[in-house]
Amino acid sequence: MFKKLSIAAIAALALTSGAFAAGGGDQKIENIDFSFDGPFGKFDQNQLQRGLQVYTEVCSACHGLKYVPLRTLSDEGGPHMPEDQVRAYAAENFEVYDESLEDFRAATPVDHFPENNGAGAPDLSMMAKARAGFHGPYGTGINQLLKGMGGPDYIASLLLGYTGEEKEEAGVTLYENTAFPGGWISMAPPLYGEDVDYNDGHSNDLRSVSEDVSAFLMWTAEPKMMARKQAGFVSVFFLTILSVLLYLTNKRIWAPIKGKGRKES
Ligand code: HEC
Repeated sequence: MFKKLSIAAIAALALTSGAFAAGGGDQKIENIDFSFDGPFGKFDQNQLQRGLQVYTEVCSACHGLKYVPLRTLSDEGGPHMPEDQVRAYAAENFEVYDESLEDFRAATPVDHFPENNGAGAPDLSMMAKARAGFHGPYGTGINQLLKGMGGPDYIASLLLGYTGEEKEEAGVTLYENTAFPGGWISMAPPLYGEDVDYNDGHSNDLRSVSEDVSAFLMWTAEPKMMARKQAGFVSVFFLTILSVLLYLTNKRIWAPIKGKGRKES
């Protein structure tokens, strides 16, 4: 009976998750070693600042980040920029519409990054969590367990996945991309390498800028990841101590009875 039930349960699980994975089979997503992978991983502050630069100089032309408050750029665990630098950055790079002025003014840290719908490009605030990089094998979820959900890996693979082929369909130019579901995306390759000049001397080849902006977008999607991991670690630590104490208490409570039993038999 139990055996039959468990076979049925496993079959149901495999079938339903298989359905979710369907259609993603032809995508090529690379598993990238990000500093924030794993239970003890941390965001690399310098990488986030470089990624912010790539976003600002390249992606912001088409994509908004409307859920991200500019002030969070100075948060610890994130890009951790000094507050005066954030103020200058906001004022230099973005304008927001102020209803009380009925006009545009320079952005300040209390504003969010602007939204940008001009090019029909999706908002990138949550993109790293809205996309999953890994499926299978056969939708078992094993890959996700071992490699994570792969949102930032997907974005990096997308930026690195252009083959150079183009085609036009109903007046829209499509670009072949090995990471995009279906293989053809309407976003022209945004990065070619050496798109930005980093002032920390870090390499700015195509792979580096792609990984940097993907890490930055992981931070925008989950700015409190460091706090979450730390809270998880602390609670596991306390639960371990609690388990040991309960084990010892249990032993002590039953000691008279168990001890007697053993003597008699
Ligand atoms: C010239 C405008 C333009 C620029 C610049 C641009 N994008 Fe896009 N992006 C688009 C458009 C348009 C789409 C929608 C494509 C589609 O669904 O076919 C898109 C889609 C995306 C997607 C979503 C793909 C998906 O799975 O739906 C991601 C991620 C993305 N862009 C990241 C970036 C990053 C990172 C940069 C900066 C390095 C960038 N884009 C620069 C226009 C742009």
